[in-house]
Amino acid sequence: MKTVQPISLAFSGIVIILLCTTITAQAADTKPVASGIILEACKNVSSDSFKVRFTHDFCVSTLQPDNRSADAKDYRILALVAVDAMKSQATAVTAKVEKLIQGATKDKIATRALGFCRVDYSGMVSTLEICHDIIQSFEIRKGNEGPTPFLLIGCIEKTTKAINDCADKTEFASISVGLMKEYEDLSMFANLSSSLLLLFITSPPPRGLGLDIPSD
Ligand SMILES: *[C@@H]1O[C@H](CO)[C@@H](O)[C@H](O)[C@H]1NC(C)=O
Ligand SMILES: *[C@@H]1O[C@H](CO)[C@@H](O)[C@H](O)[C@H]1NC(C)=O
Ligand SMILES: *[C@@H]1O[C@H](CO)[C@@H](O)[C@H](O)[C@H]1NC(C)=O
Repeated sequence: MKTVQPISLAFSGIVIILLCTTITAQAADTKPVASGIILEACKNVSSDSFKVRFTHDFCVSTLQPDNRSADAKDYRILALVAVDAMKSQATAVTAKVEKLIQGATKDKIATRALGFCRVDYSGMVSTLEICHDIIQSFEIRKGNEGPTPFLLIGCIEKTTKAINDCADKTEFASISVGLMKEYEDLSMFANLSSSLLLLFITSPPPRGLGLDIPSD
């Protein structure tokens, strides 16, 4: 699966307009009871619909169920929640790949392609554990000490490589259709995680804490 290039600006414009209409309609119907910091963060990271792969609703529904989100002291916690949600998803996808491998014993090409996916996704779970750790212990640099903010984003970028690798390997195999939604979901999780990290890094201290959030 290759990254879809916009066919024309006009066409993608129409898609965006349709997308925005849908999002607005959904927001009006099912108002999520999300806390201030979640809404604030999701509004920010999904505001540039040309530049993100996920919707505002996807952001809220990822962060909302985790009780760390409502009590988040800064945007870092929200990024952690997104990374952990992605890890759960990667674990589930690894299990699905395992099942597909078991069902594809006679199809050598599919089995081989899925073997790469198993490496990609189980590796992704380990990578996300490392990312979690880096984000958790991240301190804003004093001088040249400690990791740079880009290490945070770079860690998530490694998972994008894994997603693309599995997609490429299975492109011509019979099983690619069975993993299409998984590629898409993981891409959205990766993009959401990076976007929240970027928000954390670029927000002035105390990085979300200073928000004027009405308490209910
Ligand atoms: C969050 O929920 C879990 C159970 O799902 C509970 O064990 C934990 O204490 C809760 N944490 C907070 C901060 O409420
Ligand atoms: C999210 O995905 C879009 C489209 O692929 C990309 O242009 C953007 O850089 C990504 N954002 C982050 C923070 O990685
Ligand atoms: C998102 O947050 C960043 C960092 O705090 C800020 O510079 C930017 O203006 C915000 N964008 C929107 C659309 O709220």
